[in-house]
Amino acid sequence: MKDYKNVIIYNHPLVRHKIAILRDERTSMKEFRELIEEITTLMTYESLKEGVPTTEIEVKTPLETCTQTVVADNSIVIVPILRAGLGMVNGVHVLFPSAKVGHIGMFRNEETLRPETYYCKLPKGIEDKLVLLVDPMLATGGSACDAIAHLKSIGCKNIKFMAIIGAPEGIAKVAEAHPDVSIYVSTVDRCLNEHGYILPGLGDAGDRLFGTK
Ligand code: PRP
Ligand code: URA
Repeated sequence: MKDYKNVIIYNHPLVRHKIAILRDERTSMKEFRELIEEITTLMTYESLKEGVPTTEIEVKTPLETCTQTVVADNSIVIVPILRAGLGMVNGVHVLFPSAKVGHIGMFRNEETLRPETYYCKLPKGIEDKLVLLVDPMLATGGSACDAIAHLKSIGCKNIKFMAIIGAPEGIAKVAEAHPDVSIYVSTVDRCLNEHGYILPGLGDAGDRLFGTK
């Protein structure tokens, strides 16, 4: 895969360990859900070390008053791509409990592999916030590309996208279509199969999260 300036691949040993368990077909729905949340929290910590809106406040310690930097109130909106992105929301909320949540519902047409949008509800004022778009799987890149294009079309300027597993072709597609968006991926897999599934991957993330298969 080409080296894209806007793509950050973590390959962190702790996250790789958790992803190994996530991939295992014997991993239960409960454990799968917990792992997705834990990995998301670790990714959020890293992804938001730059670009988070901050503000200065005065804090009175028992000894003196000092100026401290804190995350600006109401500055981050989490946007999961339904369904599987829903599994990542709590993992971000652990760190940013008051972040509002917008939802973009998409499913891939099984024949064309193109995403079809069936739902969209975003908080008012999202265009001025840091938007953290989340989806565990970045396969062909169609869903992420369309979701980002929609967010931009309504005025969002500060968008970060986090995926747990990415296929090289999907990462390239999103990176090239949206060079102004930072893309964070925990691990890059080998390729897609003929049905657009990531190999080795973990199967269908939505089904494994919600027990629909
Ligand atoms: C999965 C996944 C992404 C999309 C990735 O969702 O959660 O949204 O596929 O594929 P792409 O990069 O090729 O667009 P899916 O369409 O299976 O819907 P679901 O989460 O409701 O199962
Ligand atoms: N969506 C998934 O859930 N898994 C894949 O491998 C590809 C798309």
